[in-house]
Amino acid sequence: MIKNRNKPRSELFSHRIIAWQQQHGRHGLPWQGADVYRVWLSEIMLQQTQVVTVIPYYLRFVARFPTIAALATDSEEAVLAHWSGLGYYSRARNLHRTAQLIMQRHEGKFPQHFEDILALPGIGRSTAAAISAFAFHERRAILDGNVKRLLARYHAIEGYTGEKKIETQLWQQAEALLPKRDVAVYTQGLMDLGALVCTRSKPQCPICPLQADCMAHQNGLVAQLPTPRPRKVLPERHSTFLLLLNGPDILLEKRPGSGIWGGLWCPPQVDSQFLGEVENVSAYCLQRFGTETIHTLALPTFTHTFTHFKLHITTLLLQVINKPTHIQEPGMMWLDADDALQAAIPTPVRKLLREIQAGRRLM
Ligand code: ADE
Repeated sequence: MIKNRNKPRSELFSHRIIAWQQQHGRHGLPWQGADVYRVWLSEIMLQQTQVVTVIPYYLRFVARFPTIAALATDSEEAVLAHWSGLGYYSRARNLHRTAQLIMQRHEGKFPQHFEDILALPGIGRSTAAAISAFAFHERRAILDGNVKRLLARYHAIEGYTGEKKIETQLWQQAEALLPKRDVAVYTQGLMDLGALVCTRSKPQCPICPLQADCMAHQNGLVAQLPTPRPRKVLPERHSTFLLLLNGPDILLEKRPGSGIWGGLWCPPQVDSQFLGEVENVSAYCLQRFGTETIHTLALPTFTHTFTHFKLHITTLLLQVINKPTHIQEPGMMWLDADDALQAAIPTPVRKLLREIQAGRRLM
């Protein structure tokens, strides 16, 4: 028997996605069926992060900031502390700023119109579409990383999916495949299929509902598609953390709002080349922090890769001899290492502090 003979190809596609989502997709995620604030928050958290990682952060976040008004009126510090560990901190700063903007310009109500959603900070075309589909059941196409991969394979589209020309082609396909109804289930289905079946490595083609007409599968191109990003050698930078230790306390400095780890707390950081030219690190610390230190130990260098460069970080442990009383400048604080672990600090700093605490316990 010939099945689906009269269905146009796009309808077949969405029909299969919807049926698969209902049977095999993810259900019971904490933001599914929730209000638009929670949908928005989850979509922002999920932009660069997997579902399993997001869930505990999401639950802690909504417990602390249960409404847009609560988020808007709390401090950026508290928002960043609840984001700490998720990375890409501009997402958290935008979320906070957007909540304030919604209070001022939209009377505290998350906007319903797609164009108004798209105009909010930190929300691009795909995220705006996901919010519209999940919260308002609007017929909008999404195109996040997983969906790009799935469509590049389904249509056997060659070329790096971050390239404008390829992206335009993928958006056209995403729009053309949209079903007339059940757009929320369909959108969830696309996301789930991309994350669970049409994975980057080891895709599960035998259980894929699209296998029968996936062009990449038919042409043996699944492993080659999507075409990888052209390899670019990232520039490398070298930096040193000055980790001033005073008993259980460490000195932290708030980083500027923009740039890497914007608004987060880190040990004071200096360019390694500059530090290499400083004759005496203790004299430098005395001048910069007003405190006498003895240089005890350099920890092994670790590397953190950002989108645009690689950062090699060496840590100098500096034992404070006399903690000055006048260093409570804005943007600097002495904090007990346990409290620092609860503060808005980037993941590499958290790891470093944990290692130091573990080392201390052994001493
Ligand atoms: N990735 C992005 N948004 C998602 C969602 N709502 N559910 C699962 N994965 C997602």
